[in-house]
Amino acid sequence: MIANKPSGGPLTRAQLLHEIGLSPQWQLREQRAVALAAPATLPDERRPALANPITAIAGLAPAPAAPAVMASARSQAIAGMSWEQLQHSVAACRACTLCQQRRQAVLGVGDLAADWLFIGEGPGAEEDARGEPFVGPAGQLLDAMLAAIDLQRGEDVYIANAVKCRPPNNRTPEAAEIATCAPYLQRQIALIQPRLIVLLGRAAAHALLGEVGSLASLRGQTFTYPAPQAGGHAIPVVVTYHPAYLLRTLPDKAKAWEDLCRARRLMRAAQAAAAQAAPPLPA
Ligand code: URA
Repeated sequence: MIANKPSGGPLTRAQLLHEIGLSPQWQLREQRAVALAAPATLPDERRPALANPITAIAGLAPAPAAPAVMASARSQAIAGMSWEQLQHSVAACRACTLCQQRRQAVLGVGDLAADWLFIGEGPGAEEDARGEPFVGPAGQLLDAMLAAIDLQRGEDVYIANAVKCRPPNNRTPEAAEIATCAPYLQRQIALIQPRLIVLLGRAAAHALLGEVGSLASLRGQTFTYPAPQAGGHAIPVVVTYHPAYLLRTLPDKAKAWEDLCRARRLMRAAQAAAAQAAPPLPA
């Protein structure tokens, strides 16, 4: 793994940046002022759960052909699921044609109470085989990017994808596939209630923010995901390049580093605000 020396010891930051191909560009620098907060663009999925969500979903026809009422019942069912139910439901999902060629669905990986949520596009060949997101070359770069801001997969970090099944030949998931899978992603967000969401690439941005422009136009902005639970907190959202794109486009790594540094600042602010809002410990 990139984040470890051959001897097994952890890499220094300088070695890490070198490994990712970012040194000497990836220096922490004074950040620009945080960009505007865009209005929330997502529907609030707080709806009552069906009595037996998993059974209610089993056997649904592919979403494009399903009547709106069935799609809505499916969304409502998913909105009430526990992690275990979500895992079963995703594993058995046949709501779009991506299920036909998958080896397995890939729900996500990491700390279920993470402050950080990273969202990618969809499983590739290795993810499809292993059942974990970002385990191929793009995943190695993602791990290195996490390490560069002192994060580690599974420790205060959860990693998910816009779609849970591998698109054939690793093509970009279609809008309808992203929409069909969105209730799963929304439920993951509601269960985790992260303090910050990082969207990796355009498909992830599409999944959370709706039809969007170029990735370049989204970078540098801070979007807001509405509080996913009553009494919960709204979640800042930042967009950056997908690691697979960065593997092909080395010059944009410096921009991704800027985005990560900005994300880290937003996280620190969110954590400080949460600490201030927390009730004082009893004397
Ligand atoms: N690319 C993604 O967007 N997600 C993965 O899980 C792997 C590669």
